Amino acid sequence: MARVLSGIQPSGELHVGNYFGAVQSWVADQDLNEAFYCIVDLHALTVDIAPAELRKRTLETATTLLAAGLDPDRCTLFVQSQVAEHTGLTWLLECVATFGELRRMTQFKDKSGEGSHPSKSEAVRVGLFTYPVLMAADILLYNADRVPVGDDQRQHLELARNLALRFNGRFGQVVTVPEASVPAVGARVMDLQHPDRKMSKTAMSPTGTIGVLDPPNTIASKVRKAVTDTETEVRYDPISKPGVSNLLELLAAATRGDPAELAKRFSSYGSLKTEVAEALSESLRPLRERHAQLSADPQAVLASLAAGAAKASSVAKVTLTRAQAAMGLLAAW
Ligand code: TYM
Repeated sequence: MARVLSGIQPSGELHVGNYFGAVQSWVADQDLNEAFYCIVDLHALTVDIAPAELRKRTLETATTLLAAGLDPDRCTLFVQSQVAEHTGLTWLLECVATFGELRRMTQFKDKSGEGSHPSKSEAVRVGLFTYPVLMAADILLYNADRVPVGDDQRQHLELARNLALRFNGRFGQVVTVPEASVPAVGARVMDLQHPDRKMSKTAMSPTGTIGVLDPPNTIASKVRKAVTDTETEVRYDPISKPGVSNLLELLAAATRGDPAELAKRFSSYGSLKTEVAEALSESLRPLRERHAQLSADPQAVLASLAAGAAKASSVAKVTLTRAQAAMGLLAAW
């Protein structure tokens, strides 16, 4: 059985990019693999967030993941900060990673505004810079074979692989070298208002982002307003028709179809938009319904997270101890 691990930031409500790019695969992966899924609250501390808000969003993210179909009997769902080994392995890997390779991470460049005003980088948190090392620790602690993620995480995965190879090369075979697993459809869902940018909670584009809990009329209104182009032909061509192609990609992700094939069924943007809105609402309906039930019992969600953390910790401990010994740290007597 392969080991699968993935993580998500506690941004509260997930959007359909998170859902089709990652979470849908997580649900499917529970059955055939030993699956670990982590709500990465330590990663959320790399930018400004109020303590009460972080706590609320972490619980909300857990509730939504359970509503999406993660089943604590078939996977290990846990909160990163409840498993202390994540920060323990991070330090060891920080002493393997180089400044140069972290500086090349494009997400760091985007989020830190590197290259803009020098005074800006003075205020960037060190944690934002070392973020990808914490992510590598998340993965390597569980000796994950496969990491299901959206397209934007490829570079971070490459770093995790390089750190694993370097660690094993220097200190002996301790960690598994992981593979990224990116879905064929839905790996890069774009903002409906700015189809040249990926859909993101932080993009501040409320009409361009569809939340997984949006009611059907909200979904319909956002899809109706989605930016297309001045032609009228429905064709899958992400370069010259990014808006229309994004809608076809969403339809394909929701119906498990093929975007180029689906395009042939439509003679107007109007009919495509109607069908996209219906397919999204329908595919998210079970999640919306389960979310309403689960939110009524937050104690049950907290209890399943505690059980998940205990399970995760028992696996993580073994790897951390092996990594410490391999690097020459003296074991406690
Ligand atoms: P995060 O929280 O930004 O996103 C969670 C997952 O959703 C995917 N995703 C998308 N997929 C398609 N289209 C989009 N517009 C879109 N936006 C987000 C992401 O690729 C991701 O798979 N650094 C990670 C969290 C992390 C992690 C890990 C992931 C921490 N440790 C260990 C895997 C393994 C992140 O910020 O994801």
